[in-house]
Amino acid sequence: MPMRLTDCHNIDDFRLLAKQRLPWPVFDYIDGAADDEATKARNTAAYASADLVPDVLAGVADIDTSCTIMGRQSALPLMLSPTALQRVFHWQGERAVARAAEKFGLWCGISSLATVSIEEIGAMISTPKLFQFYYHKDRGLNRSMIERCQAAKFDAIALTVDTIVAGKRERCARSGFTSPPKFTPASFLSYAMKPRWGLDYLLREKFALPNLDTHVKEGTGEAVSIAGYFNTMLDQTLDWKMADQLREDWGGKFCLKGVMSVADARRAVEIGADAIMISNHGGRQLDGSRAPFDQLREIVDAVGGRIEIICDGGVRRGTHALKSLCAGATAASGGRLYLYALAAAGQDGVERAIAILKDEIERGMKLMGVHNVAELTSDRLRWR
Ligand code: FNR
Ligand code: LAC
Repeated sequence: MPMRLTDCHNIDDFRLLAKQRLPWPVFDYIDGAADDEATKARNTAAYASADLVPDVLAGVADIDTSCTIMGRQSALPLMLSPTALQRVFHWQGERAVARAAEKFGLWCGISSLATVSIEEIGAMISTPKLFQFYYHKDRGLNRSMIERCQAAKFDAIALTVDTIVAGKRERCARSGFTSPPKFTPASFLSYAMKPRWGLDYLLREKFALPNLDTHVKEGTGEAVSIAGYFNTMLDQTLDWKMADQLREDWGGKFCLKGVMSVADARRAVEIGADAIMISNHGGRQLDGSRAPFDQLREIVDAVGGRIEIICDGGVRRGTHALKSLCAGATAASGGRLYLYALAAAGQDGVERAIAILKDEIERGMKLMGVHNVAELTSDRLRWR
């Protein structure tokens, strides 16, 4: 019996519904990761290595789940991380995610490889918007993205620093997944077997990467693999000096996405970054990299209180966000936690997924006997 949206009661249910609805090359692009996908698995499993210790009889009829991230209020200690190519997963794409983020009062991340423009998202929602910046060899493109984000009044730029070369995405190598998707003899059948996706993809708004196609054709008009895009278009000379210059050129809230070492966290503080997303890109880059939740304590001990720390990746439950905050994070963030839902059911799916996570965060705080996120302290966590 095929699953329906109302059968989804957690993020893993959305994953199953997405698998049912997507051509397998597209599902594998979302679900897949690098090499043996060990890091992707550990990202979530890491949350089982610490247990919450609740207080009771705390009178929790009224609780406040909100927090402040880079100067903007967030209704939950959870950010929607930037993810590419969203109109390939569902025709509503980034528009659905942005509207759902606004409805629930959350930060929404927009990728350099988004399929909806900076300007449209900027005009569409009033809630906090983060633009994820890929540092391209094309300096004119880099300048254009900064200027467009300034004009569209984005609230923050996150420079992604863990993709200096592409991770080895073996599922995409097997399927031949590209941006834009091209139909090969091997994959054509998979697309034909998902007529609802196929008709949406072929008959609705044409694929585009409007934040890039002003300057580049690769990945926008000319199909390339994500690996090919990373390895030919991004600037592998990117270093701290260039990151600092980008921060200065932007002039607004600045975040480094993909920092994992204590030394780099300290460097981020030195250059005046406002936040770091400790992340391994959802396991899609360096397989064998440590999980952000495992690494979180070291980072908090080194720079806690001097820079905001977002724990990114592996989050599938509201309690994962609560554990991240007890371990010292400002907030948690994730991509697949809303992408499966987007692929499964567009904006209705994303709104249901966020509502589920909101409910789990609220229930978790009440059962822990805490009234606000400030009370999510390290003494409420025991490491196994
Ligand atoms: C991503 N991620 C990502 N990150 C980034 O900086 N720019 C991007 O364009 C993308 N694109 C992207 C596409 C897809 C399909 C996925 C699954 C992920 C990484 C993303 O921002 C985030 O770091 C991870 O998704 C976190 O892991 P979880 O939450 O997916 O487990
Ligand atoms: C990915 C890139 C686009 O993870 O960030 O697929």
